[in-house]
Amino acid sequence: MSPSSRTRSPLEPAVSALESASFLDPAAKKIAKNARETIPDGAVKDALSGTWLGHALHPMLTDVVIGAFMSATLLDLFGGRDSDTASERLLAIGIAAYGPTAITGVNDWADTEPADDGVRRVGLVHAAANAVALSMYVGSLAARRRGASKRGKLLSLGGTAVMGAAGYLGGHLTFAQGVGPDQTVFDRGPTEWTPAVDASQLPEGRPTRVVVDETPVLVLRDGSSVYAIHDRCSHRGCSLSEGAVEGEEIVCPCHGSRFDRRDGSLKLGPATVPQPAFQVREREGRIELRRLDPNAAA
Ligand code: FES
Repeated sequence: MSPSSRTRSPLEPAVSALESASFLDPAAKKIAKNARETIPDGAVKDALSGTWLGHALHPMLTDVVIGAFMSATLLDLFGGRDSDTASERLLAIGIAAYGPTAITGVNDWADTEPADDGVRRVGLVHAAANAVALSMYVGSLAARRRGASKRGKLLSLGGTAVMGAAGYLGGHLTFAQGVGPDQTVFDRGPTEWTPAVDASQLPEGRPTRVVVDETPVLVLRDGSSVYAIHDRCSHRGCSLSEGAVEGEEIVCPCHGSRFDRRDGSLKLGPATVPQPAFQVREREGRIELRRLDPNAAA
């Protein structure tokens, strides 16, 4: 298929325009900065980021919110007269789950927006649309409890339409703009021994970035030992070789995730997965490495 015959999504022009909407930047930057300054590093940030879970927490929570609101709307449409109480309960569940879901989303977005204008703008509109949808669901629940059932159901229907648009932008943030996936997943590094760097070029105790089979690798000499882990931070892709070495740990310069220099294991978030690590050997003055299979027998 030639590039010109590629099928374009009818939504692509609108999303492109949104990614270019620089007038959103002042408000977005201010909100993101406030979020970064408000959410404390350490246990709270790790909890919100999903470090304890092994991947981002936000997508799991969105399932609860979207599932509850969407189920209420489907009951309104197809559930018959006996479903009104169930719809109200589902709306209440969605409203209760909205706060934690929004906080985890803002946390993820605020870590990413400084490096990507498109992420900053799409994320702001995604959040704003979700807030509009929430206000409609809150209005819907209030109307139902006042006995204005028809108005309540119309508000829910409107909320679902807005939430659908917000969800589309959320999917765009993740699947098109790469907010959330492990940043090392598509280039884990060579599985066979591969020359990486002259041993004489490795300084003592200072990380060196090399590229092996198109994979960036951080190589670190510590006395008679040499360690190597993937250089692109699994969190948002910063170069770990520009970070600090503190004891056994490499500290990411962007958001402070800590990885064990020996095996890439994750010691502190907000990253949620470890760094791929490499076996290292020296042959004829060259450092060679190959991927360390975490499942291989010792
Ligand atoms: S890029 Fe965020 S901690 Fe490394």
